[in-house]
Amino acid sequence: MSALLEVSGLEVHYGGIQAVKGIDLRVNQGELVTLIGANGAGKTSTLKALAGLLRPAAGQIRFAGQSLVGMPVHQLIRNGLALVPEGRGVFPRLTVAENLMMGAYVRRDADGIIADLERMYGLFERLHERREQKAGTLSGGEQQMLAIGRALMGRPRMLLLDEPSMGLAPLMVQKIIGVIRQVANEGMTVLLVEQNARLALQAAERAYVMEGGRISFEDTAQACLNDPRVRAAYLGE
Ligand SMILES: Nc1ncnc2c1ncn2[C@@H]1O[C@H](COP(=O)(O)OP(=O)(O)O)[C@@H](O)[C@H]1O
Ligand SMILES: [Mg+2]
Repeated sequence: MSALLEVSGLEVHYGGIQAVKGIDLRVNQGELVTLIGANGAGKTSTLKALAGLLRPAAGQIRFAGQSLVGMPVHQLIRNGLALVPEGRGVFPRLTVAENLMMGAYVRRDADGIIADLERMYGLFERLHERREQKAGTLSGGEQQMLAIGRALMGRPRMLLLDEPSMGLAPLMVQKIIGVIRQVANEGMTVLLVEQNARLALQAAERAYVMEGGRISFEDTAQACLNDPRVRAAYLGE
């Protein structure tokens, strides 16, 4: 299998604080991989470094064979890397439809954009019902759907998701995870960061466990679900 994303020796520092202490990870083309870990483990810092929002203190990031370190964010997006950040970041005063269209701003294929808009409405029925509503009036779960839909409108090669289940009701969490699985089944490469380990391990193919800025464990998601250490530390068993 070929790696779409390959990270080695990644370090992220905030002044004297070492949030990420030299991690290696890879995500193969078409894989759904999860990065789990407790609050403060360094997951968001890792994603921000991958998305070009933080400059790594050390390490290599290769995406589709190209080095990403130091590449400006707009160029990373053009290269096909889309981050759906923690807290979602939709444009509250724009409508659902306008937010989705914003996701396609780098594209020039008008017909493809319209087709993808319809695809998003098929994926997220709720967004279709609310397409003319201002994004700021949506529930948290609906805003999460919109943020994912907006990222997909850019036709990325890879989706980076930071805790999409955060703060959502169980039914909404199931709906969002279902969509992430569907998108992955259709061939999208996904790195899913989650604090909700059970949920993430049930959805993903492979997993990395992060602790104190390091990867402490990695295996197939199934093996993690069966591992006594992972069960004790992350699944409350
Ligand atoms: N902007 C920042 N300035 C200083 N320290 C930070 C900043 N952001 C995160 N940290 C610290 O880095 C560590 C990892 O944080 P983070 O990457 O947000 O973890 P996670 O997403 O796994 O909860 C934590 O100790 C956190 O306090
Ligand atoms: Mg985080």
